[in-house]
Amino acid sequence: MAIDSDVFGQGVAVITGAASGIGAGLARRAGALGMTVVVTDVNAEGAEATAAAIEAKGGKAHAEQVDVSIPEELDRLAELVFSRHGEVRLLINNAGIETVGNSWEIPTARWEATLNINLHGVVHGVRAFAPRMIASGQEAWIGNLSSVGAFGQMPGQSAYTVTKHAVQAFSECLYLEMELKGLPIHVSAIVPGMVRTAIFDPETGAGEPDNAAGHRSAMREMIRQYGMDTDRAAAIFLEQMAQKQFWVHSDPATAAQIIAGRIAFLKDQIPPIMPDIARAIAVD
Ligand SMILES: NC(=O)c1ccc[n+]([C@@H]2O[C@H](COP(=O)([O-])OP(=O)(O)OC[C@H]3O[C@@H](n4cnc5c(N)ncnc54)[C@H](O)[C@@H]3O)[C@@H](O)[C@H]2O)c1
Repeated sequence: MAIDSDVFGQGVAVITGAASGIGAGLARRAGALGMTVVVTDVNAEGAEATAAAIEAKGGKAHAEQVDVSIPEELDRLAELVFSRHGEVRLLINNAGIETVGNSWEIPTARWEATLNINLHGVVHGVRAFAPRMIASGQEAWIGNLSSVGAFGQMPGQSAYTVTKHAVQAFSECLYLEMELKGLPIHVSAIVPGMVRTAIFDPETGAGEPDNAAGHRSAMREMIRQYGMDTDRAAAIFLEQMAQKQFWVHSDPATAAQIIAGRIAFLKDQIPPIMPDIARAIAVD
């Protein structure tokens, strides 16, 4: 039986990168369940639009422009949320970008943006919010956006892949730290399969090498065709978080297949395994 409405039927949710895609879906779902949703994104207009959609359905939302690649912005957000709305029950560190290109051809600025948004944005989201969540003494939930890409390798997506491996490892350590201290903070690694979002849209790839365009558009077409709907994915994620699952999946079969490859790679110490589609979409 679904328990998300019991667990997330009230309290404050903070979601980063909630102007679009999975973040917007999570914000709408949290709003529909009855939470006060702090909808944050670097894209202020997009965050306002998500908040307006929640309010239009009778929910409670507050939009705030936040760039997760700047640690002080997350400190400012935590200060603002706790003083304006009180304790945070649900924090989802979701903001992320894809970066396509051969490792040696991605410009410095794009490498740094990818690490700063996808990895440091998650780390500093936790650093800014967890002390206040712990001090409140209340039960709370933290979800970090990992990916099926956290368990494999995709040539042409090294920058993205390293951040997702790192977010996965970070989330595992964080889970254990909470357990070791006996704290009532439930940590989840959210591991989406393909979800139909803007992540491979051409405009989100600004600053990538020119030869990345073909790989990016092939990936975009693939998620357009096979990706899960964002609202469906969001509902699945919040239900599994409500169940206090560390592993939160929208596509457990694909995750299991990639993890099986990873296990073989580590156990037998074989060379990295080429994904099936890699040659067809290789960056020039
Ligand atoms: N879509 C998928 O198939 C898929 C699969 C696995 C993991 N994910 C992860 O899900 C998360 C959400 O991605 P999505 O697919 O919804 O993409 P998306 O592009 O639709 O949404 C990402 C959002 O993050 C925001 N963002 C970008 N830089 C930011 C910054 N510096 N500060 C704050 N917000 C910023 C964007 O403005 C956008 O609203 C990412 O972490 C992504 O890696 C997505």
